[in-house]
Amino acid sequence: MRVLVTGGYGFFGAWIVRELLADGHQPVLFDLEHNPRRLEIVLSGEQISALPFVQGDVCTHDAVLNACKDQQIDGIIHLAGLQVPTCRARPLDGARVNVTGTLEVLEAARILGESISRVVLASSAAVFGPPGIYPAGPLSEDVRNVPGTHYGWFKLCNEGNARVYGTDHGVKTVALRPWTVYGPGRDVGMTSEPTKAVKCLALGRPYKISYGGIQDLQYAQDVARVFVRCLTGPWKGPNAYNLRGAVVDIAEFHRVLCTVDPRAAELISHGTSQLQIAPDLCDAALQRDYGPLPPTPLADGLAATLKIFRDLLANGQLDTSDLG
Ligand SMILES: NC(=O)c1ccc[n+]([C@@H]2O[C@H](COP(=O)([O-])OP(=O)(O)OC[C@H]3O[C@@H](n4cnc5c(N)ncnc54)[C@H](O)[C@@H]3O)[C@@H](O)[C@H]2O)c1
Repeated sequence: MRVLVTGGYGFFGAWIVRELLADGHQPVLFDLEHNPRRLEIVLSGEQISALPFVQGDVCTHDAVLNACKDQQIDGIIHLAGLQVPTCRARPLDGARVNVTGTLEVLEAARILGESISRVVLASSAAVFGPPGIYPAGPLSEDVRNVPGTHYGWFKLCNEGNARVYGTDHGVKTVALRPWTVYGPGRDVGMTSEPTKAVKCLALGRPYKISYGGIQDLQYAQDVARVFVRCLTGPWKGPNAYNLRGAVVDIAEFHRVLCTVDPRAAELISHGTSQLQIAPDLCDAALQRDYGPLPPTPLADGLAATLKIFRDLLANGQLDTSDLG
């Protein structure tokens, strides 16, 4: 398949492009500007220079449509978007990029009809409200969505719009709701701190994760695999799916990180406040429709992340600009 990956130079983009190439597909990157720094973490220079790139803004009317036509695209993975802190600080920009930009993607798929076989959208676990409003135990997709952020409402709006494009026009969509995704390349957003902690561990620097409580830590490679499976597997309807990785307290994350490298005991610390998104989500629907998609154990994902950071450091290629 020729797959347009919007936001292809982002964190998810890098891992998804790698997964697409490994499965024999041809990714075409669509992003605001040429910036392969995250791709350089997971791909060779040769692989990167062979990737088609379309420079564009998802919000520009017809930019995605024209990219799909010019590049003879037959599937779209839509990742371009602004994250929680930016949407909080600049909600109008957040709505423009996250909502209008997604409508541009869906509109392109509508106009191109059957030549676009699937659109997979990055939604988010932020469509869920704070843990206190839900019963205990893993939550399925059919509970009340009461996001606590503009970002969460924008994602929920996108899920709804995707369904309507299916009902009204037959566009085949799948929306995915990752929680905290970690791994090399994760350098922005509210939940980038566990990855930054691992990067500081590689550097031998102290780092404090500003929050605590329970969250769902999902390894980047696993999430990339889910996106590609939902693009290429037999379609099961215009659904929005929860993902599930390692649902752990940050204290447990810290304990596991200490088993990977004991220096984490003195270098890495954390706060106590629980993030206000329900952390215990059930992924039975995703596993039933597109599985099996077993998650990498947390210790293995953290060890792989640390190794990549250490290798980059040894080669003088570790970007630390995200650490402030
Ligand atoms: N990282 C996570 O843990 C996480 C969790 C849940 C959902 N998500 C969602 O997954 C998607 C990808 O996340 P990420 O971590 O890769 O984000 P990222 O910030 O690393 O990458 C986003 C990419 O989108 C591009 N972009 C932004 N605005 C654009 C525009 N107007 N036109 C074209 N490109 C634009 C950026 O240049 C960047 O390359 C986002 O939609 C995000 O909301 C991420």
